[in-house]
Amino acid sequence: MQGFDNPRDAVVITGTTSGIGAAAAKYLHEKGYFVFAGVRQQQQADTWTETVGHDVNLLPVVLDVTKQNDIARAAEIVKETLSARELRLAGLVNNAADENLGPIGVLSLEVFRREIEVGYLGVVTVTKAFLPLLRQAAGRIINMSSVNGRCTFKYHATTCATKYAIEAFSDALRMEVRPWGMHVSIIQPGPTDTPLMREKMVEEFTRKLAEYPQDQLDLYFQDFEATIQHVKSFVERISVPPRGPLDKLRRLINGQGWLHSPLEVAQVIERALASRRPKTRYLIGAQAKLIHAARQLLSDRAFDRVLGENVFDF
Ligand SMILES: NC(=O)c1ccc[n+]([C@@H]2O[C@H](COP(=O)([O-])OP(=O)(O)OC[C@H]3O[C@@H](n4cnc5c(N)ncnc54)[C@H](OP(=O)(O)O)[C@@H]3O)[C@@H](O)[C@H]2O)c1
Repeated sequence: MQGFDNPRDAVVITGTTSGIGAAAAKYLHEKGYFVFAGVRQQQQADTWTETVGHDVNLLPVVLDVTKQNDIARAAEIVKETLSARELRLAGLVNNAADENLGPIGVLSLEVFRREIEVGYLGVVTVTKAFLPLLRQAAGRIINMSSVNGRCTFKYHATTCATKYAIEAFSDALRMEVRPWGMHVSIIQPGPTDTPLMREKMVEEFTRKLAEYPQDQLDLYFQDFEATIQHVKSFVERISVPPRGPLDKLRRLINGQGWLHSPLEVAQVIERALASRRPKTRYLIGAQAKLIHAARQLLSDRAFDRVLGENVFDF
């Protein structure tokens, strides 16, 4: 256990303005880690400062994972702070992502490029920048994948391709860093209560997809306006917290689903950082486990019909 006034272990987390990244930053800070909280803009760094005050154990750093200058500057700030505060870099949590939904035939190439650039090349670039500091401390690398890193769903090509890439990257990295006593863990949350599964999902349809020509949308959606309403009610439905274990079971059976708390994911991240023998993969939540088991049991076509084409029910 670390001392709160004098933590020794530091962690860098990307994408801490909301959702899982914000929950992980708060939770690890409470657990006594020194947290470098990555944000994209100075204004967001100021918001962190307003939240925690000028806490000496949480430092917001501007770190857009697509900007080489930001990454180099953040690595420099982290290096100087570690040295000044006599800290070790115990971990890097690659959490940032910019997910997009939609049919492959409709989405622009720019969307595919952008998602890979943030969600995969961002992970590669940030990892390479912090590798020397992590190596010195036998630090851990924790990469945020998803149940989408193992199973593919309709209209999720960009997200699933990005997460599959993270899975392969993490497996190779794990073998390469073993000589320094380092560990790499992949986190695979099921649906989690963050802006990504609420307002951003609605925005995907109401704003981003709605900008494509109607004749292209008509190829996939019989009535796009009705689809938007359907997505809104899907988000409302899964956002209702389950009333207990029986309600969870009922929802698992009828495929309705629910959202896990980001704190649950943050706690798993802490386990991956602190446990003596961390797992290579942490699959989080009953829904993710069920989907994953189905993927292993069913043929490709059977999985498509039962879950791949239906789980998001748009
Ligand atoms: N929510 C789920 O159901 C779920 C399930 C499985 C896996 N995940 C994974 O969990 C991670 C966190 O997602 P979340 O659900 O917490 O979503 P979120 O609330 O939308 O958070 C995404 C974070 O990434 C940041 N980000 C976006 N582009 C960035 C860039 N270029 N550079 C740096 N940061 C950037 C965002 O910052 P801005 O606010 O500046 O945009 C935000 O802080 C993602 O890797 C996601 O794929 C989520």
